[in-house]
Amino acid sequence: MLRTRIVGCGSFLPEKVVTNDDLARVLDTSNEWIVERTGIEERHIAADDETTSDLAFEAARAALGSAGVGAGDLDLLILATSTPDNTFPATAAKVQARLGMTQGLAFDIQAVCAGFVCALAVADSFVRAGQAKTALIIGAETYSRILDWNDRSTCVLFGDGAGAAVLTASEGAGTTADRGVLSVCMHTDGQHYDALFVDGGVSTTQTAGHLRMQGREVFRHAVVKLAAVAEEALAAAGIAPEAVDWLVPHQANRRIMDATVRKLGLPAEKMIVTVDHHANTSSASIPLALAEAVGDGRIKSGDIVVMEALGGGFVWGSAVVRW
Ligand code: ACO
Repeated sequence: MLRTRIVGCGSFLPEKVVTNDDLARVLDTSNEWIVERTGIEERHIAADDETTSDLAFEAARAALGSAGVGAGDLDLLILATSTPDNTFPATAAKVQARLGMTQGLAFDIQAVCAGFVCALAVADSFVRAGQAKTALIIGAETYSRILDWNDRSTCVLFGDGAGAAVLTASEGAGTTADRGVLSVCMHTDGQHYDALFVDGGVSTTQTAGHLRMQGREVFRHAVVKLAAVAEEALAAAGIAPEAVDWLVPHQANRRIMDATVRKLGLPAEKMIVTVDHHANTSSASIPLALAEAVGDGRIKSGDIVVMEALGGGFVWGSAVVRW
């Protein structure tokens, strides 16, 4: 049975760090309020001339390096972003060219904060269908460009960054002992479109627009849906919650993450947390967290890793991977 194995991770963060105290100097907010409500202490913000494709390219290079895979080996590149460089072509095409990848297929997907899990789901389908052997998936965002910096209820929550993973096809026995993606479950419920959206767009305002959010509504849905989809993915993989080594949640908000790990009945020490120093980087948050936890040796070969994310739409999903 073909399995999709994750063989390398990489990430990239812009150099500029903005702390809560920096924000409190220009906004009616405080470090105490932000930390207590969100767990966020600081975020990275892209330089004026730094684009989503720049961040994506650096993360991709790091992931390829850690996997020992060259751009010439790739036959699929999927870039998850809701802050593309241009309306078209896909930002993935720009990254593909910069990497020197001249073969295969490259495209963007838009599943907001669930983008990386969605990219993993799509790449896994390509691999298991025999349509790709070596894939690069990237989550990259410059949310600083779509924030209303006068809206303290949203602008303090987000940061910029990128993360990437290299996937390869590998033969498995079809059991839970196989290394690779064991299950991915994804859902969308467009009835909640207005709970979290950007108030601009090509066919509406012809502007990029700004992020708007009903924070409490998002919070309420996130806690319920994230735990439910992680349980669904674990059941689909045939993995008991007690067997989970690491929960790698979308890093939206520490309170959502804590509530989800509690609902899943997992010890808090099994959760990878980067929201304190990255804030919410949307589709980049999970691969940034993976790169950190693989890099420092917490996530090891053979571990069961559960990823989960929810974003505007709402779209949400979870993946279970034996690392
Ligand atoms: N600093 C100080 N005060 C603030 C700030 C701020 N940055 N932002 C809002 N406030 C004030 C409000 O104006 C309000 O004041 P009032 O009582 O005088 O009217 C008060 O704080 C409470 O506001 P609420 O919006 O009710 O605060 P809440 O407790 O709901 O916390 C928060 C807001 C943190 C956004 C919360 O709703 C939340 O975490 N929601 C989840 C949203 C999220 O994580 N979204 C990320 C994108 S989606 C995803 O990735 C899953």
